Amino acid sequence: MKNFKSLEEVNLDGEKFYKDNIQCDNWKLNYHFEPPFGLINDPNGLSYFNGEYYLFFQWNPYTCEHKYKHWGLVKTKNFIDYTMPKVVIAPTDWYDKDGCYSGSALSHNGKLELIYTGNVKDAKGNRESYQVRAICDDNGSITKVGPVVSDIPKGYTAHFRDPKIFKYKGIYYFIIGAQTEDLKGRVLLYSSEDFNTWTLKGEIETAYKDFGFMWECPGLINMDNKDLFIFSPQGLKGEEFKNQNIYQSGYLIGNLDYDTLMFNHNEFKELDMGFDFYAPQSFRDDKGRDIMIGWMGLPEEDEQHPTSKYNRIHCLTMARELSIKDDVLYQRPLEEYNNLRKELLVDIEGVDINKWVSNNIEENSYEFLLEVNEKNASQVELRFAIGNNEDVTLKYDFEKSIVILDRTNMKLGGKGIRKLKLHKEETFKIQMFMDKSSFEIYLNDGREVMSSRIYPQDGSIGIELLSKGGDIRIDKMKIWNLIGVRYNE
Ligand code: FRU
Repeated sequence: MKNFKSLEEVNLDGEKFYKDNIQCDNWKLNYHFEPPFGLINDPNGLSYFNGEYYLFFQWNPYTCEHKYKHWGLVKTKNFIDYTMPKVVIAPTDWYDKDGCYSGSALSHNGKLELIYTGNVKDAKGNRESYQVRAICDDNGSITKVGPVVSDIPKGYTAHFRDPKIFKYKGIYYFIIGAQTEDLKGRVLLYSSEDFNTWTLKGEIETAYKDFGFMWECPGLINMDNKDLFIFSPQGLKGEEFKNQNIYQSGYLIGNLDYDTLMFNHNEFKELDMGFDFYAPQSFRDDKGRDIMIGWMGLPEEDEQHPTSKYNRIHCLTMARELSIKDDVLYQRPLEEYNNLRKELLVDIEGVDINKWVSNNIEENSYEFLLEVNEKNASQVELRFAIGNNEDVTLKYDFEKSIVILDRTNMKLGGKGIRKLKLHKEETFKIQMFMDKSSFEIYLNDGREVMSSRIYPQDGSIGIELLSKGGDIRIDKMKIWNLIGVRYNE
């Protein structure tokens, strides 16, 4: 690694950043997690341990490039007050010298068991992949144990990474992303009794034999007696309403037979239809909630994000509670985020309109709730981040049940449109969290989500609602401005 500052210096600089000038520019996020400097990507090791949520993440604390991957950590009890982000695992050993890649955590006997991929490359770019065990004790200090799986099984390439550890019926497992020698994405399952000796159980058999060249960041959760398999396939063909981003993250719901590894499942569904979402991870907390956080970014698209000029890039999504209804996954922002609400700025109920314009939004940091009926309109359109001749629009066609998110009018950052077909319901519901240079839109109680980065110019803060073809009936519309989260010792 280059001659960078020491990790102690990195951590002190991080603290200084949060103490001095957290509101350094207009794109600095208020309540989404982003690094003080450097690049972050996948959430890692998400867990509830010792009375706190542990949110680890991939972090290059030195530059805005996908290099020098460390693990960073922030802890929180309430998703409002966080500890200062610190580097906690560094690529300093022979088995992880080219990156402490993604991995996961499981609380066990008063300790947090960690497992991650040690990435090693030779001068010619040939890869090796080690699955590395580390242990976090109850005062938060982490010790690397070393590689516990060093071989890549026969028939697979060295694209072998992102072990996700879990316990099922008293046995420990990890599921890991893999690639066959004929370049097809797969996942393999390992089991263990002691976290040190891991036995390959085999490949999980899905109906998707030819579904991208690599499956990254897999996860397996048993929820309501269903198996939910989340993964991030690379190399799917884009379609009008599907796979519109460079890479996808989605899920299969079904039943996995742990003896035969046959997985009977329904169709692949993407988790998020916005521009920026990848490599999510989930975990179960002490209240039994299954919580998922994603990276609000995608590989190979760094140039779309102008925050690099401030020496930081990318962020994580809000934490979302998962539930399954009729074999469809729903995602809702954790109820803790209600505590971000400062004042109720808009509160409208039961009116028919064809145009509404906000006049008291002062900052792109708000929650917007809308429940609307078509009445005699054909379309409803929400415009936001309006100003400086730019805006973002979200359109919903009542008849066709099509949603279009359009950021082509923005001057800075990525552009383009994203489309989805929404399952038709009586009322069209939006819950949107706007946060400076990012937003998350939850549609129809979280049946679909659209997460994206945008880079509004100063003053592009307006919001409008319009209808086409007639009036819409607003059953409910509310806007709260939201406070920022805090980083303390
Ligand atoms: C996904 C990913 C993982 C890998 C990590 C490296 O974004 O490519 O597969 O472990 O990022 O940062």
